[in-house]
Amino acid sequence: MTSTANGPASGARKAHPDHLGHVIFITAAAAMGGFLFGYDSSVINGAVEAIRDRYDIGSGTLAQVIAIALIGCAIGAATAGRIADRIGRIRCMQISSVLFTASAIGSALPFSLLDLALWRVVGGFAIGMASVIGPAYIAEVSPPAYRGRLGSFQQAAIVVGIAVSQLVNYGILQIADGDQRGEIAGLEAWQWMLGVMVVPAVLYGLLSFAIPESPRFLISVGKKGRAREILAEVEGKNVDLDARVTEIETAMHREHKSSFSDLLGSRFRFLPIVWVGIGLSVFQQLVGINVAFYYSATLWQSVGIDPTESFFYSFTTSIINIIGTVIAMILVDRVGRRPLALVGSCGMAIALAVEAWAFSADLVDGKLPNTQGVVALIAAHVFVLFFALSWGVVVWVFLGEMFPNRIRAAALGVAASAQWIANWAITASFPSLADWNLSGTYVIYTFFAVLSIPFVLKFVKETKGKALEEMG
Ligand code: GLC
Repeated sequence: MTSTANGPASGARKAHPDHLGHVIFITAAAAMGGFLFGYDSSVINGAVEAIRDRYDIGSGTLAQVIAIALIGCAIGAATAGRIADRIGRIRCMQISSVLFTASAIGSALPFSLLDLALWRVVGGFAIGMASVIGPAYIAEVSPPAYRGRLGSFQQAAIVVGIAVSQLVNYGILQIADGDQRGEIAGLEAWQWMLGVMVVPAVLYGLLSFAIPESPRFLISVGKKGRAREILAEVEGKNVDLDARVTEIETAMHREHKSSFSDLLGSRFRFLPIVWVGIGLSVFQQLVGINVAFYYSATLWQSVGIDPTESFFYSFTTSIINIIGTVIAMILVDRVGRRPLALVGSCGMAIALAVEAWAFSADLVDGKLPNTQGVVALIAAHVFVLFFALSWGVVVWVFLGEMFPNRIRAAALGVAASAQWIANWAITASFPSLADWNLSGTYVIYTFFAVLSIPFVLKFVKETKGKALEEMG
């Protein structure tokens, strides 16, 4: 992924509405990878108790089994850019679909705990790939005027994936009389939860056959005729297609395929822009967003909310997540990415501080006192709302578009990998931190939300409306 179909000359041009419809379809199909990302990373939530019980393991081992998939994500993200530059973006989606499918079947029918963990790593690898290929491909086929909105399809798909996995888990649990190990047609409920992912995984693969390869990749492998046809599909026939092909070719001659060494400036340090990408990624995770999703049931039960209600609150959090994402989709190309990030940081910092206060109350009969219980629930929803309308969408949009063409693939891979490692650090440390002090844990997340404000103010530049060639 070294460049894009949108040259500076085309920067201000808006797509013809007919073509916009087609671009929306292409974007939505590519964003299926985001759906699988959300689905796969949260589905495990519904299966943890059964896994603990079946393999007779303690919380520490369980947390490692959950978190290990995130290491697969980091490796998948780090390698996806290279693969996509060699064999194309679409083939990369197809490999990811095959790995998702294999992981769904393998982790639903594991021979042992180790086997289960290995299949989760394979699924993680596929998520990591999808997390890089989605934003990059979408940025490459989007007209600049709509790139933020189209780029946010990735996050929209992630949040819908999370919500659907919760609903599917709930449905399966109902059939199994509320028992994660209850049997349905010869398999236990938790095995169904993990196995059902075969459906979206195969669909992702099938949809990838219905969308075109990135014109930029095609030109890089000498298929100019096909690239011309695809440019006509996404930008319209009224565009001077020969001029567009030449524009992309010229940009390509100025550039060369990105590699890890291109990310390094003098004395083998990462270029400043790469650090900004890593910073955005890492702050997105350090505010503890995935504690709200991966551990919601555990969190609410630990302060005395019963399991049925805790499912309900996990689901309402997901709905708020979807609503916030839609708000961000509407605003991202109007107000820009930076103001959204700043508003989000302020809102999250306040909500997290309120959660820290609520969790500091002494439990009475294993429950938070009424006032603090209600405040904690409201603050958790407000936190997710602010995350969703800001950092959730904005970071994936930024990562798809903020890097200069020459280093996009490698830089996006490094930043996304850093994000998965930060996600792993937060997810793996939460159980021990919560045992130490739940309120203190939230103070740490609050600290990172506050710190993200000067980070954005000082280091992050607005990308709204710019052509990809103007980045850097
Ligand atoms: C973003 C984060 C992901 C998180 C999701 C929640 O996509 O990258 O880690 O699970 O938002 O909506």
